[in-house]
This record gives sequence, structure tokens and C-alpha cells, in this order.
Amino acid sequence: MCGIVGYIGGQQAAPLLLEGLTRLEHRGYDSAGLAVLGPSGVRVAKQAGRVRDLGDGLPKRFTGKIGIGHTRWATHGPATDANAHPHTDESGRVAVVHNGIIDNAAALRLELADAGVELVSDTDTEVLAHLVARSTADTLEARTAEALARVEGTYGIAVAHADFPDRIVVARNGSPLIIGVGKNEMHVASDLAALVRYTTTVAHLADGEMATVTADGFSTYLVRTIDGAGHVGLAATDRRASEVEIDPSSYDAGEHDSFMHKEMLEQPARAEAVLRGRLDEKFGTGHLGGLNLDARELRAIKRVKILGCGSAYYVGQMGAALIEELARIPADAEAASEFRYRNPIIEPDTLYVAVSQSGETIDTLLAVQEIQRKGGFVIGLVNVVGSAIAREVDGGIYLHAGPEVAVASTKALTNMFLAFAMLAVQLGRVRDLSISDGRRLIAGLNAIPGQVAEVLGREEELAEVARELAGAENLFFVGRVRGFPVAREGAQKFKEISYRHAEAYQTSELKHGPLALISPEVPTVAIVPDDELVERNVAALHEIAARGGPLTVVTHAGVDLGDLERTARRIDVPRSERELDPILLTIPLQVLAYHAALSLGHDIDKPRNLAKSVTVE
Ligand code: G6P
Repeated sequence: MCGIVGYIGGQQAAPLLLEGLTRLEHRGYDSAGLAVLGPSGVRVAKQAGRVRDLGDGLPKRFTGKIGIGHTRWATHGPATDANAHPHTDESGRVAVVHNGIIDNAAALRLELADAGVELVSDTDTEVLAHLVARSTADTLEARTAEALARVEGTYGIAVAHADFPDRIVVARNGSPLIIGVGKNEMHVASDLAALVRYTTTVAHLADGEMATVTADGFSTYLVRTIDGAGHVGLAATDRRASEVEIDPSSYDAGEHDSFMHKEMLEQPARAEAVLRGRLDEKFGTGHLGGLNLDARELRAIKRVKILGCGSAYYVGQMGAALIEELARIPADAEAASEFRYRNPIIEPDTLYVAVSQSGETIDTLLAVQEIQRKGGFVIGLVNVVGSAIAREVDGGIYLHAGPEVAVASTKALTNMFLAFAMLAVQLGRVRDLSISDGRRLIAGLNAIPGQVAEVLGREEELAEVARELAGAENLFFVGRVRGFPVAREGAQKFKEISYRHAEAYQTSELKHGPLALISPEVPTVAIVPDDELVERNVAALHEIAARGGPLTVVTHAGVDLGDLERTARRIDVPRSERELDPILLTIPLQVLAYHAALSLGHDIDKPRNLAKSVTVE
């Protein structure tokens, strides 16, 4: 959420910063801005709208070889030109870009206003520019540290100052900040995506760490002391840059019209990557070394509690069902955003599982910290290596989905499910899951990548259904037991990129309310796997059909829909082991959402009002 870039070196900064911002736009895209430091001081260009609008409207000769930039997702104040970053002080000599939230911004704004400072935006960030400007310390590092000592909250920031024209000062507390080392030039960014075109030699700042970045290198330090007058002492740290193994093309959509399309189609290969080396066919179990739990410790687990947000929460519900079914351990998933606020009971024999693609979602991160404060053991199912959640957890399973750029999660979600399946089998196999059942499931998992490819191969047929569904203002997605989280995830995808009102319901609950809304204008997408509930599910579909509700049924070949066959559309997915069905039922729902949004002409990768990683509460 929100993206930061910075450049210092021998080239003009503005074009490089714009390119970097384009790469970060999925993180926030309601406004964008740049500040460059040239011979005439700091110049700022910023406005509401997309990065391309900023680039198109950039003043001529916007020159300078030092610069910082930002792409915003509004939190404090609406998306206006004045609220876009960078923010400056009254003299216009200091420019600041910031990710995160300053919790005591209101008090600091009052204090600054009392001191006669005229605040020109509604943002929390603006106070930082004024605080840096008002510090009388000798160095930009100390001035920035003094300003930061006044703020409570989270930040990744970059500061440029006309009086210190050879450097950018950056700091991190809760929001990622990465330094990229080039040849006689240096880059700064909040995400690798903005850097990989220029360099793969990077240093990640730790929380609390600051850095000075000059054209020929960087140095890092921590605030050691703060005296009564707010003066700070800094102590050097020895952070070094290292090579990251990353293929820069994984940040390009290539021949696809959107990242979502590219990422959907990558699923078979990425699914293989998450399973690789982790399936023990001989003993019919998972082999998850990163859990940091031996068989005895796995056996001692009495309960599993899964936490995530958005799609990660829904796949957490699929995971909970898998664990209960295969390991017979009580398991449930809860929205991480709610968990912390109800003073949760943390039990020593519970395994806590944090699920996150980005590893940055603040609600999930804060839930992890709350559990750890109370002595709980947390593992992470995380995609981004080295991200905040990945670093804080006691063990985990990396998802190996590769960079995911589209806001709507596809390949990361699929790999979350597969990671849960391996965890469930491993937990089951130290309990009562038999070796033959273990082997049956491992074989089922091995088949999933090919089966996902099979579903994706039917894109054209699914696109046709999607275009029809896109015509409805309101839709239901229904399922039961294993199928219900699938329906929830399907509705989430559909609503977030098509902007249609898609509501998920348990099929069994339809008669307790929602049937009142069924009509020929309200289609239902029903999840009907060939499992022990198939007959009941089909009966409920008749109730919908009797009220004129159009039906799309995601099911298995051989399921008899009776006289509904004449009116309902069916989408048959390949059969898996029953326990593993949810993921194959989910894949066509991604394609439906994608093609519905495409037919409506929406910006698929950047749905309105949303952002890829939500790093504010
Ligand atoms: C945002 C995105 C969702 C995503 C959720 C959790 O809300 O729009 O698509 O599922 O964050 O993100 P995470 O990175 O923690 O998986």
C-alpha cells in the first residue's frame, strides 16, 4: 500500500523515478508525485490520478540527479493534488515521501499550527516535512532522526533536503525500505519490483534502522540515544547489500493484457514449485522442514487457529477444513483484522498459522505479534521471502508463487491451499491418518498442477459464461461445507474486479433469507462437488430454479442435475481427492471474475479503491 522510490546518481532522476513508480502502482494508485533536487533546489510535481498522468504533465526541464517519488493509496485525506506525496515544509527545501501511518499526527498538526506553521494538506505525512525542517541538528540524518523520535506509528520514508544536496536519508519502521546498489548510482524503493530493472544487489533495512544513501554507497545506523531536549545520538550498523535471485521478467506482464491473466496462467508451474521436494510418497506425508516442529511437537498440537485477510482468510477457511478432516484437530480461520481486538485466548498447545501473500498485511502482522506477546507459537504461509511476517514467525512454509502483482490473488492463493494440504497431511500422519490415505492424498496433490492447467485450458468457454454473468447487478455464490469458502473466495474475486454485488452464502442457509432476493435478474453460481452433500445441494438448486433464478453450477462430470440440466449452465472441473476438491473448484471462479471484469472494461490489475498490500489498519 503506497510505494516509495528514490534515485541518486549521474542520470536524470525523473524518468527513472516514473518508471519505478509504474512498477509500484499496484500498491496504491490514487495519486502520485516526484521531488527532484537540482541546482535550483527542490522541485515537486504531484497530482491525484495515475503515474502516467503525472508523467504526461511533468513540467519541462524537471531536472535533477537526486529524487524521490511516491504512489499513494489515500488514508489521511482524500486523493487530491495537495494530499499527494512528496510533502514539503514551508520553505520548500525539505521533501518527504512516506508509507505507513503516523498515529499521533493530529496532536503534531495542532502543535505545528500553534507554532505558526501553515499546513497545506490533510495528511499525516506533512508533519514529518515540517519536523525535519524545524530541527536545528547539524546533519540531515540527525534532523530526520529527531523528527522520527516525535512520531508514533509506522513508516518507511525517504527525505531529500536542498541544504544536503548529496544524499537521501531513508528510515524504516514497519513499512519496507530497500536500497539498491548500482554502478555509481543508488536506488531506493519500498518493493523489489521497482528495483529489479536496475539492480539485483540490495539491502533491506530492519525496523528502526535508518540509512544515508549517496551516489557511491550507503551507510546504516540506529538511533541510540535521545536526550530530554529530543536530541539524538546515532550508532552505525553494518548492513551489507547482497544479491537477490530474481528474474526481472517476472515483473512484466509480457504478452498478457494484465498481470492477473499472466498470474492465473502461471498457476500450474507455480503449484509444482510449492509441492517440489515436500511430498513424501513412500510414507504418504508432507515434508515441511520450515515448520521447526518435530513429530512429537506436531502431535502435541490440540487446536489450529488460522489468521489472514481477504483471500488469505478464505483460503484459511479451506485450510481449516482440511486440517479438521485429515488430522481431526479442531481448526478454524478468523479474519486477522478482528482477532486482536477481542482479547483472544492464546493457548500453549494451539498452532497459530498466519497466511499472507505479501507478508506485510498489517492486520495479520499485528495478530502475529499479539500471539507472540502472549507466548503462542506461530507459523507463516507467506509468499514474499524475507517479508515482515516471514521474519517474525517461529517457522513456516514459503509459497514459491513468484511475484504477484495483480490485486486479485490467484497463484498465491492456490499455493496457500496446497501448503495447507501438505500441512494437514503431515499433521494427520502423526495421528490417525493411515499411510494409504496419506499416499492417496499425496498422489492427489501431485496431480493438481496438471488439473489446474486443464481448467485454465477452457478459458474461452468460461469467458462466455462470465460475459453473461457480468450483465447482472447482483449475484449469489453458494456452497456448503468444503464448498462454502470456495463460494466466498469466488464472490470476493468477482466483486473486487467486476464491481458487481456478489454475495456468498451457505447453500443450506438460502431458505433463511436470501431466497427472497432470487429472481430472473439475480444469477447464482453454485459450487456442487460430487461429495456426500451432492443430493442436498442439487435439491437447493431446484429451490432457486423454481423462483426463476439463473444457475451456473461448478461441479464434477457425472453429477446429475436432473431436470436442471436443461436450464442451468454447468462447468465441470476435474475430479481430485474429495478433500482437495476446493482448489480445483476455485480456479474457474478466477476465470469468471477476470472475464467479467474484462468485458466491463475495468482496470483488472488495479481495481478501484483497493491496493495489493494493506499496510495500514
Ligand atoms: C488485500 C488484497 C487481497 C488480499 C489481502 C491479503 O485486501 O486486495 O486480494 O487477499 O489484501 O493480502 P496478503 O498479502 O496478506 O495475502
